[in-house]
Amino acid sequence: MKAAVVSSFDSAPRYQEFGVPIPAGEDELLVDVLAAGLHPRVRSQADGSHYTSTEELPLVPGVDGVGRGPDGLLRYFILPDTTLGAMAEQTVIDPRRSIVLPEGADPVALAAAMNPAMSSWVALRQRVSFQPGQDVLVLGATGNAGQMAVQVAKRLGAGQIIAAGRDAERLAALPALGATATVPLGTMPPGTGTGTGTGTGTGVSSGAERLGQAAADVDIVLDYLWGPPTTDAMVAIVTNRADRGKPLSWIEIGSVAGPAAEIPSAALRAARLQLVGSGQGSVSTREYLAELDVLAREIAAGTIDVDARAVPLARVEEAWAATDAKHRIVLVP
Ligand SMILES: NC(=O)c1ccc[n+]([C@@H]2O[C@H](COP(=O)([O-])OP(=O)(O)OC[C@H]3O[C@@H](n4cnc5c(N)ncnc54)[C@H](OP(=O)(O)O)[C@@H]3O)[C@@H](O)[C@H]2O)c1
Repeated sequence: MKAAVVSSFDSAPRYQEFGVPIPAGEDELLVDVLAAGLHPRVRSQADGSHYTSTEELPLVPGVDGVGRGPDGLLRYFILPDTTLGAMAEQTVIDPRRSIVLPEGADPVALAAAMNPAMSSWVALRQRVSFQPGQDVLVLGATGNAGQMAVQVAKRLGAGQIIAAGRDAERLAALPALGATATVPLGTMPPGTGTGTGTGTGTGVSSGAERLGQAAADVDIVLDYLWGPPTTDAMVAIVTNRADRGKPLSWIEIGSVAGPAAEIPSAALRAARLQLVGSGQGSVSTREYLAELDVLAREIAAGTIDVDARAVPLARVEEAWAATDAKHRIVLVP
């Protein structure tokens, strides 16, 4: 069969011949892959930088996908940590880590959306006791996962949904998806963007200052950024909070702005702030599986807007080079 194959962590996967994987027993199924998403998680798997990497090569990347097995059923599946990933004509799945999709569900939309949408869905349903009506800040709302976090928060009944992000065009599109306010990140002169800048006396306001105004009283932060923007946002929010005794749950989900953030000790002492993470490890496989079915149905029903681009598996190297792609690339064998 053909597959995307990583032979070195320094270079993109190549489309080449690869042995058909063999199911280990009755608990496994060989499926024809219909679609596999090129998520940031897959890029870090393929360059060996993900925290689950075993550095074993060769490696077929792809952590999830949609396929059809010998039973004829259409399935969304999540793979365990394996070197036999989803970016191949066929892969082996554990049906217990899969769900049967409604016939007619769009494989590309499901493969594009499940990973980014799951990030906020699981965070709100498994990592905190989220209550409808609570206010949510999505920090880093302009990526695929952030845009979906806005929609997931709305779907789960959030009150205010404040979307903070860099890209002005994508930020401007978020109110239509459920954001009740948007906050541009970065430094900008007053009168630009849609934020609530306070100014600094220099005629310039920062994203953190604007967050301190617009998001100081939120109940939950869904954080896709980490790094320095998280430190700045946390200080601004804690400092400007009207009631510092009101619980604030800060959920670390992504780290596009840096793998480490300086957390001032005062932020944890001066406000009722709890910091938790949400991802593979802090959320158990059982907890992920508990959410798969309902989320897949939401996506299949079109409740969540999906910006996907299907690319033939044979063009995997070209897909890998498209690091600035705003839509989620899905490889289609
Ligand atoms: N824990 C989980 O369960 C889970 C699941 C899925 C994803 N994630 C993580 O979530 C993060 C986002 O994933 P994704 O699928 O949304 O990726 P994506 O579609 O590639 O989006 C990433 C976005 O990050 C923004 N960005 C990058 N650097 C930034 C900075 N310094 N300040 C502000 N924005 C910045 C960019 O927005 P602009 O266009 O505005 O520059 C870009 O659109 C990744 O770290 C991913 O690993 C975690």
